[in-house]
Amino acid sequence: MIKFACNNPNIFVDMASKIQFASKIGMIAATVGSAVGLGNVWRFPAEVQANGGAAFLLVYVACVLLLGIPVMLSEFALGRAGQSDAVGAFGKVGAARPWKAVGGLAVLASYMILCFYMVVAGWTFEYLLQSISGGLLDPISGETGLHSHYAAKMDSFITDSVNPLVNTYMMILINIVVLIAGVRKGIERMSNVAMPLLFVILVLFAVVSLSLPGASAGLDYFLHPDFSKITPGVVVNALGQAFFSLSLGMGILITYAAYYPKDTRLVQTSVVVSLLDLLVAVMMGLIIFPAVTTFGLSGEGMQGATLVFVTLPEVFAQLPATQLWAILFFLLLTLAALTSTISIAEVTVAFISDKFKIGRVKSCLIVLLPLFALSTVCSLSMGPWSDVLVCGMNIFDLLDNVATNLMLPIGSIFLCVYMGWFAPKGMFKDQLTNFGTVRSRLYVPVLFVVRYIAPLLICVVLVSYFIR
Ligand code: PFF
Repeated sequence: MIKFACNNPNIFVDMASKIQFASKIGMIAATVGSAVGLGNVWRFPAEVQANGGAAFLLVYVACVLLLGIPVMLSEFALGRAGQSDAVGAFGKVGAARPWKAVGGLAVLASYMILCFYMVVAGWTFEYLLQSISGGLLDPISGETGLHSHYAAKMDSFITDSVNPLVNTYMMILINIVVLIAGVRKGIERMSNVAMPLLFVILVLFAVVSLSLPGASAGLDYFLHPDFSKITPGVVVNALGQAFFSLSLGMGILITYAAYYPKDTRLVQTSVVVSLLDLLVAVMMGLIIFPAVTTFGLSGEGMQGATLVFVTLPEVFAQLPATQLWAILFFLLLTLAALTSTISIAEVTVAFISDKFKIGRVKSCLIVLLPLFALSTVCSLSMGPWSDVLVCGMNIFDLLDNVATNLMLPIGSIFLCVYMGWFAPKGMFKDQLTNFGTVRSRLYVPVLFVVRYIAPLLICVVLVSYFIR
C-alpha cells in the first residue's frame, strides 16, 4: 500500500485506495470539461457586452491569471492532500471541525446549482434534437420574421410544463450512466471525447464568423480596450465571472484533485486548465462579436438564454447550411453543459460515498434520483409555477442567486483563509512542489494572493452584490 504523507506527520493518507484518472490528458480533459460550460458560452459574451467590451476582457484575463489560478491551486492542494471528498478532505488533513462546514457549504451549493443547471442542460439537449429533426426551423403560426419566430419558440418551450421536463430527465439519465461508470470509465472517457470535439466545433465557428463581412468591427469592439471603461463595477463583474467560469468555490476541484496522480504538477495543471477555459471564452467572443456587428444584434439579444436560443439561431438562419450550424452549435452547448453537470454531481456523489462508506452505484442513485423531483420544481418554476415567488424570485432564480452569488463567494473566502492561514504548516507547499521534488517559484506569490488579496477581493464582490 502506498502511503503518502501530508505535511502533518501524524496524517498519512492512503493513496493506493483512491481511484485516479488513468492519464494526464484525461485528467486535464475532465477538469477543463468542468470549467467549460454555459459560463463560457453564454455568460461570458453577455458580460463582455454589458461591461464595456474589450475593457472587460482585459480585466477578466487579469482576474483569471492573478486570482483564479491561486484559488484554483488552493482547491487542488487541499483535494490532493486530503484524498477525499470536499468535506472529508478537511478532516483528512487534520482541520478542526468547523472547517468541515466550509466543505459542507460547497457540497450544498453545488447540489443547489445542479438542480437548475440540469434544467438548462435539458434545454440545450432539446435544441440539439430539434436541430437534428429540423423542427427548430418549422414556422410558428402567426409569427413572421426570424427574431419573433425564435423568441416565440423559446418562450413556448421553456414555459411548457412537459417538454422541458422530458429533456431534463434525459440529461439526468445520461449523468447517471456516466457517473455510475466511474471516474475512469465514465467521467474521463466522456471528457476525452467531448472536449476535443468541442474545440474542433469552436474552431469551425470561429473561422466562419471571422470571415463575415462585419468581422473587423466586431473584433475591434472585443479586442481594443477603451481604458476609461474600467470601473470598480467592471472589476467586480469580471471577478465573479472568473470564479463562475473556473468552477471555483463549489468543491469540484477539491473532489477532482483527489483523483489526480500523486506526481501531477499542480501549478502546471492549474495554468493549463485556466488558459484553456479562457481560450474557450475568448473564442466565443471571436464567434459572437463579428456576428453582432454583421447582423446588427441588439444588447437585449445578448442576454444569456436569449443569446443562445434566439439570437444565434437567427444568425444561423441567415447562413447557408443553416441546419448544419444549428446542429453543431447545440452539440457544442450540450457537451459543455454535460461535462459541467457531471462534475457538479460528482461533488455530492463523492461526499455521500466517502461519508457513508457506500458503493458508487448506490451513491450515484442517492444523489441523482431526487433530481427528478427537484429539477422538476426548477423547470416548472419557469412556467406554470412562475408566480410562486420567494424574495421576489421564482425557485429557479432563487437557487441560482443564493448558490452562485452568495454561497460560492463565501465558500471561496473561507477556503482561502483556511489554506492561507490555518492549514497544517507546509501542506500547501508540499502539494505545489510534490514534496520538494519539483521546483515551484510560484508558491510565494500564490500564498500571498491566497492569504491577502483573494479573500479581500471576494469580500468586495459579495458586498457589491448586496448594495447593487
Ligand atoms: N464552470 C462551468 C461553467 O462555466 O458553466 C460550470 C459551472 C458549474 C458554473 C457550477 C457555475 C457553477 F456554479
